[in-house]
Amino acid sequence: MTEIPHRQLTHDPNRLRDIAHVGPIELFTPVLEETRDFFVDLMALTEVDRDGDSVYLHAWDDYQGYTIRLVQREQAGIGCTFLRAASPAALEREVADIEASGFGRGWVDDVRGLGRTYLFDDPDGHPMGIYWDVEKYVPMDDAPSLKNQAAKFPGRGANVRRLDHVNYLTREVPAVSDFLRDTLGARCTERIVTDEGADAAIWFSVGQKSYDLVYTKDWTGANGRLHHIAFATDTREDILRACDVFLDAGVHIETGPHKHAIQQTFFLYVWEPGGNRIELCNAGARLILDPDWQTVNWTSAERAKGQAWGLKTIESFHTHGTPVIEGV
Ligand SMILES: [Fe+2]
Repeated sequence: MTEIPHRQLTHDPNRLRDIAHVGPIELFTPVLEETRDFFVDLMALTEVDRDGDSVYLHAWDDYQGYTIRLVQREQAGIGCTFLRAASPAALEREVADIEASGFGRGWVDDVRGLGRTYLFDDPDGHPMGIYWDVEKYVPMDDAPSLKNQAAKFPGRGANVRRLDHVNYLTREVPAVSDFLRDTLGARCTERIVTDEGADAAIWFSVGQKSYDLVYTKDWTGANGRLHHIAFATDTREDILRACDVFLDAGVHIETGPHKHAIQQTFFLYVWEPGGNRIELCNAGARLILDPDWQTVNWTSAERAKGQAWGLKTIESFHTHGTPVIEGV
């Protein structure tokens, strides 16, 4: 592998596992009901609640009460990302470090389905929260036959199993990278580095999944934007079937199906009616079991080869983000 004169991103193995996973998350849309129908009819989530300006949706194997809260807003984009701490003690450790970082905003106790939640921003201004107590999913007319599953298999559309990861856009990648590693205790499993050795994109993992939080440099120079959110399917074949589902439904298929070179995930990208990019992903059985994993660095030249099997990355993948910035 090409040696690049970059700073090291070695994580502290003693801090691993303080965050259990990502979710639930909030997603903004200017067309709430159309976005709701996309997720329910085509992605196979279930509507579990709604209030004045939002709809709560649940993916069938999410143990928590809801997976995503859709919120009516003038512009599409990402709202708050909630992270579940791995234990009450881990929550206190995380909050202490977040407060010390200066990015903390304080405790709240009014987030639906979550207990006491500490709110903060990442260095690019994306709102986040961390919590321990949570309401578990209680099935109503979707009770599964097997008690080790949250809800019954929907048998509808793409049948996504769960939320997988969030890919944010950020004005400055290194500041976010430092925050994820030094404050949240996550580890960078893979990244793209420029010819000058600067971080251009980072894939961070909080557990043994290969990645959970991804940041890509925002070419517009804006902050707080979203590149995409991703949902996991059981198999690659589910994603091929989803292509046909989206095709017949008139959903914009942006790119794929194909396999990423970075992280090797089988993928499909579509745009939901509100304009947010949604990924369906399948990582196969890939996990990062090595507690001393060293970050894999990808160069610009390697990146230029395209995806794993040669598909060139489509132009809109580099330019489209939400909220959309007019005139750039
Ligand atoms: Fe992704």
